[in-house]
Amino acid sequence: MAENNEVALVGLAGKVALITGGGAGIGRSIAESFAAFGAKIAVIEIDAARAEAVRGALEAAGVEALVVAGDADNVDTVNAAMAKIEAKFGKLDILVNNVGDFLKMGGPFGNSTEDQWDALYRVNLRNMFVVTRASIPLLRKAGGGSIINVSTIEAFRGIPKLTVYGAFKAAITGFTQSLAVELGPDHIRVNAIAPETTNTEQVKATPRVPPANKDYVKHFFPIGRFGEPEDCAGAAIFLASDILSGWVSGTTIHVDGGALAAGAWLQLPDGGWTHLPIIDRDGYAPPKSQ
Ligand SMILES: NC(=O)c1ccc[n+]([C@@H]2O[C@H](COP(=O)([O-])OP(=O)(O)OC[C@H]3O[C@@H](n4cnc5c(N)ncnc54)[C@H](O)[C@@H]3O)[C@@H](O)[C@H]2O)c1
Repeated sequence: MAENNEVALVGLAGKVALITGGGAGIGRSIAESFAAFGAKIAVIEIDAARAEAVRGALEAAGVEALVVAGDADNVDTVNAAMAKIEAKFGKLDILVNNVGDFLKMGGPFGNSTEDQWDALYRVNLRNMFVVTRASIPLLRKAGGGSIINVSTIEAFRGIPKLTVYGAFKAAITGFTQSLAVELGPDHIRVNAIAPETTNTEQVKATPRVPPANKDYVKHFFPIGRFGEPEDCAGAAIFLASDILSGWVSGTTIHVDGGALAAGAWLQLPDGGWTHLPIIDRDGYAPPKSQ
């Protein structure tokens, strides 16, 4: 738990937060960070072992928590989870729609299938609709709140061979903006977080860079490193808190180490700058043959 004066300044103490996909990576970091500032935590996590792990960690930390092992894209599961949240906590103040995945479906758009499009839609966008719709009555009951959608920096630039993933993530921007307008009169703020490459269970960024290319990471990101889940948790704390961001709605925070601003610009080891490629692959993009 953070120091008492920090808890008061952030204003999350006693708030009830639901985090989808809160059993690993960015979602788990957000759940534990909110808890450290005194929030009560609900999680919907599809992986049973991860659900158990986060339940154990929250209980061990003395956090009031409700962990549902289930699919955030399943309407019945989500409605049942909302009923449990209402029964246990009486309200919901913060929703973090964190579930999302490229499902290892990298490849040329021309070879992609309808089944792949449907799967990417469900895990990146549809579950967000399902959970958000079900949360609105409880957020209204709390007198307002904060919805935070986890997007990606790829929603704001192109990503070759992950075109459909990029398209659904870009749609999160439209969803966030329109819902922010629609729910503003209910005092519900809606914002998004767009991470660049962040070390998680899904994206093991650091280990995937070949040793020979490791030095280039610090030249690719103006802030000199890959992201860590705590970087997104910091942005989520800001967006969750009415004290810190009470007049912020309908926007996206790029948690990207400055990469979007840099565009193609890279710093060379000698301190000079280039916008021409300096390595042939980044270590985690699909090879040319795929
Ligand atoms: N890690 C990155 O580099 C990165 C970059 C940009 C955007 N993002 C986005 O951040 C979010 C979190 O990514 P991460 O890297 O932490 O992922 P992760 O896979 O490490 O964690 C996501 C968690 O969600 C759970 N989950 C997946 N589908 C679910 C479902 N239908 N219902 C409930 N739980 C489900 C998984 O079991 C997992 O525990 C995603 O929306 C992702 O697209 C991540």
